Amino acid sequence: MQTILSISHLSKIYASGFRALHDINLDIWRGEIFALLGPNGAGKTTLISIICGIVNPTSGCVTVDGYDIIADYRAARSTIGLLPQELTTDTFESVWGTVSFSRGLFGKPANPVHIEKVLKALSLWDKKDNEIRTLSGGMKRRVMIAKALSHEPRILFLDEPTAGVDVELRRDMWRLVRSLRDSGVTIILTTHYIDEAEEMADRIGVIRNGEIILVDQKTELMRKLGKKQLTLQLYAPLHCIPQKLIAYRLELVRGGNELIYTYDKRAEHAGIIELLRALDDANIAFKDLQTTQSSLEDIFVNLMKERREPSLQEALR
Ligand SMILES: Nc1ncnc2c1ncn2[C@@H]1O[C@H](COP(=O)(O)OP(=O)(O)OP(=O)(O)O)[C@@H](O)[C@H]1O
Ligand SMILES: [Mg+2]
Repeated sequence: MQTILSISHLSKIYASGFRALHDINLDIWRGEIFALLGPNGAGKTTLISIICGIVNPTSGCVTVDGYDIIADYRAARSTIGLLPQELTTDTFESVWGTVSFSRGLFGKPANPVHIEKVLKALSLWDKKDNEIRTLSGGMKRRVMIAKALSHEPRILFLDEPTAGVDVELRRDMWRLVRSLRDSGVTIILTTHYIDEAEEMADRIGVIRNGEIILVDQKTELMRKLGKKQLTLQLYAPLHCIPQKLIAYRLELVRGGNELIYTYDKRAEHAGIIELLRALDDANIAFKDLQTTQSSLEDIFVNLMKERREPSLQEALR
């Protein structure tokens, strides 16, 4: 794996004295889609803003494609595209003008062919001569994405790109993200829609109270922290769980008509066969059964509830 972005011992204390980031260490690999997840106020935008040169770090070091974000500010910034969380697009400028101007800001020579390609990919081509202030909110967001792509960045930061956008734009957006990744662009995104991260990301980082508490391949994370459930639909409802079955920690739901058994996916021995035998011994018959697997969202919610680090480490072992 080749590192394209390296963050070491990065901390941020705002002028108010608030510590927004604490000793962040993170390497991003070239060509990956990395999703940064965390609750409101965790420090996601602060981290992205520091990398993009909008906020000054208090301490630590960040290099982008080998360029230090402070010593080699211009070179570092020109490799980055940013879709900020807060949109600022109420201008009289035309779509074409604003996106072309944005490219110029990064010292890149004009390239109408590239701008045309970007506008077409974002379904903005027929609006290219419109003033930005006359566009709808979703279209303005598309313009912001076009601006972020105008100078052909090698790393793209998307800070909550799909917050409040309609289904169609969301779908377009992910199509675009995938095609950018296929063309070699590295993508770092934040989202509160965890199903999106589950679908899109190669790796996931979780940030809480300014600290990165977990970074892993999505598939590994789901394998390590995911749980499976077996649901059994009973022939006759149960009033309570028989004593002999207590050890399985079953849940009785739907008025006693369903039994749920939760087990660890990693365990070699999930105990299903024994459970089925024990049910048979207890004369509990079932007419159907299904297994389901926890989503990244379930895992995330559990991680946020988790307060004690040792048990998280335990879970990852
Ligand atoms: N300019 C500032 N001065 C002081 N504190 C700030 C400033 N900007 C952000 N903070 C604080 O830093 C913390 C992290 O904010 P940040 O915007 O990075 O969070 P976030 O993870 O992006 O949250 P969200 O999911 O709501 O976008 C918050 O507690 C916020 O109030
Ligand atoms: Mg934010």
